[in-house]
Amino acid sequence: MRVLVIGGGGREHALVWKLSQSPKITALYCAPGNAGIGQTCSCVDIAATDLQGLLRFVEEEKIDFTVVGMDDPLMLGIVDLFREKGHRIFGPTKKAALIEGSKAFSKDLMKKYKIPTAGYEVFEDSQRALDYVGAHSFPLVVKADGLALGKGVLICENLSEAEQAVREIMEQNKFGEAGNRVVIEEFLTGQEVSVLAFCDGVTVVPMVSAQDHKRALDGDQGLNTGGMGTFSPSRIYTKEMEAVCMDKIFQPTMDALREEGRPFQGILYFGLMVTAEEIKVLEYNARFGDPETQVVLPRLQGDLLEIMEACVDGRLHECPMQWTEDAAVCVILASGGYPESYQKGYPIIGLEQLRNKENIFVFHAGTAQKDGVLVTNGGRVLGITAVGKDLEQAIHAAYAGVEAVSFEQVHYRKDIGIK
Ligand code: AMP
Ligand code: GLY
Repeated sequence: MRVLVIGGGGREHALVWKLSQSPKITALYCAPGNAGIGQTCSCVDIAATDLQGLLRFVEEEKIDFTVVGMDDPLMLGIVDLFREKGHRIFGPTKKAALIEGSKAFSKDLMKKYKIPTAGYEVFEDSQRALDYVGAHSFPLVVKADGLALGKGVLICENLSEAEQAVREIMEQNKFGEAGNRVVIEEFLTGQEVSVLAFCDGVTVVPMVSAQDHKRALDGDQGLNTGGMGTFSPSRIYTKEMEAVCMDKIFQPTMDALREEGRPFQGILYFGLMVTAEEIKVLEYNARFGDPETQVVLPRLQGDLLEIMEACVDGRLHECPMQWTEDAAVCVILASGGYPESYQKGYPIIGLEQLRNKENIFVFHAGTAQKDGVLVTNGGRVLGITAVGKDLEQAIHAAYAGVEAVSFEQVHYRKDIGIK
């Protein structure tokens, strides 16, 4: 089969790496990809949001199966377009992807179907939102309704922070149209767990758990980022919790979306908060998590393409899935200054030392080739993933890998996996 993956970050590098092991694949492409992905398959210079360009490529190159890694093309309706033209594609339709594209939609869905989540209100008018925060105790969480690169969530400790958050999102349009509405939410305390799940519209099969470190600095300090590192499995998420989540969250969400005429195929990402009372949903994403994918896929045994095909064909219930007992840890090497402003174009050195290490995988997020030299080309640059018998071994191996690599102004957290 001829396969195309859409996206160009660490998540897509992990997807391409895993898919390239499938004996069914005769040609593998990634659009737009990055310098690391280009070492595993052919990169095609088409933006992930250029749906017509991608469609043309699929038709000209006779691609049999497309895998969407990123959220943006999903929200633009790439799955609907490709299906209309008779092409097989892995991912949710635009209507189903709204579960990530609108926090107001996802919160209302959870309320209607009694799926546990933080209490909330939705506002379309900034004055009403300001009145509401004025009458409330703190902390409170203010969220832009739409997509904002993981930065549209503001945890407010007092009234002046909450007023500023509402003004920035709704009046100064800091996140553009994503801020036409806000969700204001009760603050939850507990530990976060990420569970990604394969979905075929009816059946939902959760993968092994992971935990993400979203803040930029050690000890969960600093700004929220796209993710500074991750590990799998979570230390706190037990088999019993998984059974409860299946019963109260995973299957109810799948059923709710089908009930609403938005059957979900692809990857549903459950961002969970394990509170003292119960497990609640913090957020949904309609795609693989980045960097969670970099620790989950190395633990998957068997052929990822076969599972994805089973999702698209609606026969996930008969598809076997096995995971290793190993643990995996991924440390993100970021550009100094991320998630705010940072420089690009610094040479990356030392990667050749990791090339033949069996338990280490280097997934590229923001890299490019410039005059034959590998250089930094984004906020998150590389993810160094290591697999070990347990989390301690994996942490040790991942940081040994990190030590081997360097570039100017590199920034990474020293406490990934220690939660
Ligand atoms: P979200 O994009 O909705 O997952 O929010 C990003 C991050 O903000 C989450 O991973 C949490 O760390 C934090 N967060 C979001 N909602 C809440 C909440 N209701 N209570 C506490 N923390 C939250
Ligand atoms: N790691 C969080 C996300 O992919 O949204």
